[in-house]
Amino acid sequence: MTLLKQLPLIFVLVACATSNKSVQELKQAPTASTKEIKNGEELFSMNCTVCHGEKANGEIGPNLTDDYWLYGNSFQAIFSSIERGTENGMPEHASKLTPEEMKELTYFIQNLKPTEGKDPQGKKSSSK
Ligand code: HEC
Repeated sequence: MTLLKQLPLIFVLVACATSNKSVQELKQAPTASTKEIKNGEELFSMNCTVCHGEKANGEIGPNLTDDYWLYGNSFQAIFSSIERGTENGMPEHASKLTPEEMKELTYFIQNLKPTEGKDPQGKKSSSK
């Protein structure tokens, strides 16, 4: 390869190295786009607010904006709570929503800002 041919590659490498996305951001939502989060918000208001409240800060179901989780707050854990439901009242959604929709809901929940609401339930967990 001549140096001239390598130039585009060098530019890409430099662009990646100087990208200012924080590691935390990348860990939180590897590919969440604004559009996906927005779709998740709409799905949430149609399917979930009846139990989790308008602001997702808890009613019958737990506050989903705080740092306390019964089943964990990793992408997989939240997705699984939505998909399969839980023993104590969270209904399964695999028969009502597509995997894409459950992914968007998960992204929406992971990007919620902490909001005062129902008392914390479960264990404190800061990792997403
Ligand atoms: C019929 C009421 C109801 C509906 C509808 C409902 N939930 Fe839940 N949800 C609950 C309850 C109750 C729990 C706590 C379950 C437990 O203690 O096992 C829960 C738990 C959860 C959890 C786990 C929280 C944790 O602390 O680990 C997530 C995530 C969740 N719900 C998301 C959703 C989403 C997203 C929707 C809409 C697609 C939804 N829920 C719809 C009642 C509901």
